[in-house]
Amino acid sequence: MITHSKPTLDIDDYRSVMDVLESGRLVQGEQVAGFEDALSSFIGVKSGVAVSSGTAALHLSLLALGAGKGDEIIIPSYVCSALLNAVMYVNAVPVVVDIDRSTFNIDVDDLKKRITKRTKAIIVPHMFGLPADIDEIVSLGIPVIEDCAQSAGAKYRGRYTGSFGVCSIFSFYATKMLATGEGGMILSDDDRLAGIVRDLRDYDEKDGYSVRYNYKLTDMQAALGISQLKKLPSFIERRKKIAGLYDGSLRDISFPVAAIPEGREHIYYRYVLSLKDSSGFMKEMLNLEIGCRRPVFKPLHEYLGLSGYPGTEEAMARTVSIPLYPSLKDEEARKIAGGIVDRLKDESGERRA
Ligand SMILES: Cc1ncc(COP(=O)(O)O)c(C=O)c1O
Repeated sequence: MITHSKPTLDIDDYRSVMDVLESGRLVQGEQVAGFEDALSSFIGVKSGVAVSSGTAALHLSLLALGAGKGDEIIIPSYVCSALLNAVMYVNAVPVVVDIDRSTFNIDVDDLKKRITKRTKAIIVPHMFGLPADIDEIVSLGIPVIEDCAQSAGAKYRGRYTGSFGVCSIFSFYATKMLATGEGGMILSDDDRLAGIVRDLRDYDEKDGYSVRYNYKLTDMQAALGISQLKKLPSFIERRKKIAGLYDGSLRDISFPVAAIPEGREHIYYRYVLSLKDSSGFMKEMLNLEIGCRRPVFKPLHEYLGLSGYPGTEEAMARTVSIPLYPSLKDEEARKIAGGIVDRLKDESGERRA
């Protein structure tokens, strides 16, 4: 069986974790500080604060921006429920926007319509590794939390995603671009914001009491993160190579391959197809022992009982993600490309960016 997603780990990764175990210093020590420095300087942002997950990073970012009861936080519908949870943790009001059906990112026209006097922040994911319209969204003048859970290493007009918002968050869940098992980080150029987040992630040895959290990252995870980060450029290269193989196979059968919008670098965290019969396709791929997935389980507007999200509805009905990760072997990628060609040669569907 070719699994849909999998981390890419090698002997250097194993050694980095073993070294920490041997050192006896397991939590939020040198390795965590080293990982914070390494990722923040890679992305080009002043400070990094490591935490236990991407969700924790979103939660603390909202708290650091002062979001609370009555504040509105804008989030897209087509994304995992972690964003909705973070908004609910701070008792704010989620305002859900639609996506652009050709990029899966926030639809800026819909976003503009949903801004009110109470809008406190916008959380902007760069879906599937393709940067969102981040310049335009930042220019609206509302604090932007960039969600780089799927876009570590992707660039927008030559700058890394994660360097545009008032802060950005990353996830290092097992199958993300950088894997530490679980893990996350907040990056920011704003010392005050970074200081608040740093204070809130850890409850111990504080002079005055206020509610704080245990969102610490371990040194084993951080050491793995440092080791993975060294390989990020080669991971991206490999992802692009496999995407190129899939693109080429689709072009061979004249299946439309959508262009990547100008000024953006797609790093193919996910490679998605847009299909009329997405369920039938997934079943046939399963018969070939190729694991495909719907990349979003349930859209947020559905959880909230809302309607009026045509871009998201279309994406939910049609989008299928096929396996693409650096450790995918050449022969596996060729088998997947062959399976796609066999299944889709008589279809008129559309593959989106
Ligand atoms: C866009 C996005 N944001 C946030 C998260 C949450 O990250 P974590 O699972 O590390 O809490 C995810 C996780 O899948 C995600 O895809």
